[in-house]
Amino acid sequence: MGARIVDADRAAAYLRGPFERAMADAGRARIGPAPDDLLARHPDVRVREAAVETWRARMVNEHRSSAVFAGLVPQMIEASTGFDLQHAALRAAHDEIAHAALCADVVRAFGGTPVAHAEPALTPVPRHGELAPAERLLRNLLFVGCLSETVAVGLLTEEHALASDAWVRAVLEVILADEVAHAKLGWQFVGAVAPTLDDEARARTSAYLRVAFAYLVEKELPLLPVSPALDDADVRAREAAGLCSGHDARRIFFDTLTRVVVPSLDALGFEATRAWETRTMAPDRV
Ligand SMILES: [Fe+2]
Ligand SMILES: [Fe+2]
Repeated sequence: MGARIVDADRAAAYLRGPFERAMADAGRARIGPAPDDLLARHPDVRVREAAVETWRARMVNEHRSSAVFAGLVPQMIEASTGFDLQHAALRAAHDEIAHAALCADVVRAFGGTPVAHAEPALTPVPRHGELAPAERLLRNLLFVGCLSETVAVGLLTEEHALASDAWVRAVLEVILADEVAHAKLGWQFVGAVAPTLDDEARARTSAYLRVAFAYLVEKELPLLPVSPALDDADVRAREAAGLCSGHDARRIFFDTLTRVVVPSLDALGFEATRAWETRTMAPDRV
């Protein structure tokens, strides 16, 4: 099977208008088009190329996240959650497409083409078929909201703080605000359900966390490659374009997990510290 093409400029003409309006509602209108002097303010061609490469990879990643939230909706329906949660998940799926469109804008602004190749088949949201629908949903919202989106918030917060280019910072601000809402979706659901779990379900979830942590590390670290050492001026030039060094990104990734995610899950009654310390890709039985 060949690669899948992610093409931000592929459009069904009859949907172009509604799509542009939806993207405007999602914050693009607030940001506005890239300023004419953007390239003049980023004269180093290596920085431009790094910006194109990084923001294009982000475009693919954001686009993929849309399928994750959309894939949670059938599990929410099976678990008989409220319509509000189902709507929030679909809204998040919409946000992620808007984020992909924003990343495409940044790629164009730095002189690139917002077209990429990606894996042909997406990883489906896990079924955890042996579990009741509510516990299956708990695991998936825990992974998506409390782990993946919370780490994204940590990384984006740093990139937003460092980005000295006002237009790039405005893009990061819109994405960051949405990722905070996506993380909250997980924390609010898990926070509401955790006290209702019996001891067996809590122990099963703690055992699941060992796999979830290991999977997150394996999945996310390759997205944060360690770049060769750069001098200070090069680092500043890249940060202005919203590019955090791979070394810093990895530090934030691990800090967010060990200082925010793990203690918060411990406080909800899960054995998260133990799960983090004994994380493993091999499924565990308790
Ligand atoms: Fe996103
Ligand atoms: Fe998100």
